[in-house]
Amino acid sequence: MLSNPSRGNAQRDEAMNQHANPQSISQQADELEEHMMHELERVVSKSTLHYLADGEVKMDSSAGLWAKHPGAVFNMGPDPRLPPMPAKPTLVDYFRCRFASHAHLLQSATHALKAGHNEKVILACLLHDIGVVSFIRCDHGYWGAQMIEPYVDEEVSWAVRTHQALRFFPDEAAGYKYPEMYIKLFGDDYRPEPYIVAEYERAKNHKWYMTSRLICVNDIYSFDPNAKVNLDDFVDIIGRNFRQPEEGLGLDSSPSSHMWRTMMWPNRFL
Ligand SMILES: [Fe+2]
Ligand SMILES: [Fe+2]
Repeated sequence: MLSNPSRGNAQRDEAMNQHANPQSISQQADELEEHMMHELERVVSKSTLHYLADGEVKMDSSAGLWAKHPGAVFNMGPDPRLPPMPAKPTLVDYFRCRFASHAHLLQSATHALKAGHNEKVILACLLHDIGVVSFIRCDHGYWGAQMIEPYVDEEVSWAVRTHQALRFFPDEAAGYKYPEMYIKLFGDDYRPEPYIVAEYERAKNHKWYMTSRLICVNDIYSFDPNAKVNLDDFVDIIGRNFRQPEEGLGLDSSPSSHMWRTMMWPNRFL
């Protein structure tokens, strides 16, 4: 019934090899899931949120899963299909192993670095969309701010939260026009919801308004394939401005550590 550790390692190696061969990731992930379910008898379950995003209001119940996989036990640890995380993960490990894309964040931070902004602004640009690349799109500014709040200066998390609203409102004096890309993405009749308008009104006269506005100014809406960006360029800035917990990010007891753990072990049964 229980997983064999050497087999688990072999599966992790296989999982890593998949990343060297992106065309077969989906197919091999399915095969690994089969291994987990039928050979290791560890069943992975999906949270309600995964189903909601597919337009279904449903959940994986133990009874339903046992009907399909009699006698199986449920996964309560790492998913061998995902890149393995170190014992004490850092923010950089999440960038490398869990964030689905870096390019936009690195381009925005590089833009801010070249413009000569201070490290709080650069860090805010580097982290402004981590909600999108690692967790969830809807209200990504709020999620992203909550994830980093215990570990960064309050000004940085405030700026990340507030860019959710400011990006919908131009400030041409500060160098920010309403993005053409938003017309393409949302149509020319999209109007922000009242809670976003209210957030913008509160932010307008706030002492950190410009920090958040600079996220918008440095936001790059079209990916430049020729731009050279590298996470290594920001490791020192992260080191000076992100309070890495000793136990590992997600294994500490901050108010948002559970969010990082969820990214690390996204299909633990509980
Ligand atoms: Fe954003
Ligand atoms: Fe962005």
